[in-house]
Amino acid sequence: MDNGDLTPGSHVEIIPATWRDLTALQRLEKACFTEDSWPIWDLLGVLSLPNVVRLKAVVDKQLVGFIAGDERNSSNLTWIVTLGVLPPYRRMGIGRALLAECESRISLPAIRLTVRRSNEAALRLYQEFGYQQIGVWANYYIGKEDALVLEKKQAGTG
Ligand SMILES: CC(C)(COP(=O)(O)OP(=O)(O)OC[C@H]1O[C@@H](n2cnc3c(N)ncnc32)[C@H](O)[C@@H]1OP(=O)(O)O)[C@@H](O)C(=O)NCCC(=O)NCCS
Repeated sequence: MDNGDLTPGSHVEIIPATWRDLTALQRLEKACFTEDSWPIWDLLGVLSLPNVVRLKAVVDKQLVGFIAGDERNSSNLTWIVTLGVLPPYRRMGIGRALLAECESRISLPAIRLTVRRSNEAALRLYQEFGYQQIGVWANYYIGKEDALVLEKKQAGTG
C-alpha cells in the first residue's frame, strides 16, 4: 500500500513475516502490549507454526506492525491472535492495511478475536471492519479487565 500520511518517500509494505523477524517482533510486542506482552516462545510459535497467517508492515526496512491469524480448521474459525503497530506509526492506516490483508488471506468462514473492553482504538477499527460482539470473557486480561469477544462472518468463504 501507499500512504500519503507518512514522511515523503516512505512506503508501507504488507508482507509475510518469518522467524527472522523474531527480534523486531519482540520489540513491537513490548511497545504495544506492555503487561500483556507474549513471552518469546509464543512469538516464535506465531512466526513458525502451520496454519497461521502472519504479516508484517515494513517502512524503510523496519518492522513497524504485525498481525497473526490462527486458522483452526477443526472449528472452522480463524482467531486474530495479535495485531499491533509501533506508536510513532499509528493513525496512518497501517492497522487497517494489516487487518484487510490478513482477512483477504483467510479462507475459513468466520473470524474471531478478543479485545480489552477499554481499548477504544482497536474497537473502532474492528467495528469499521464489521466485527460484532458475541460474548464477554470476564476478568480475562491481566488486571482483571474483561475481554470482549468479537466475530466477523466472511462472505464467500467456507
Ligand atoms: C489498534 C492499533 C493496531 C491500530 O493501529 P493503527 O495503525 O493506528 O490503525 P489505523 O491508523 O489503521 O486506524 C484505523 C481506524 O481505527 C480507529 N482508530 C485507530 N486508532 C485510534 C485511536 N487512537 N482512537 C480512536 N480511533 C482509533 C479509527 O477509526 C481509525 O480510522 P481513522 O484514522 O481514519 O479515524 C494500534 O492502536 C495498536 O497497535 N494498539 C496497541 C495494540 C493493540 O491494542 N492491539 C489490538 C489488540 S486487540
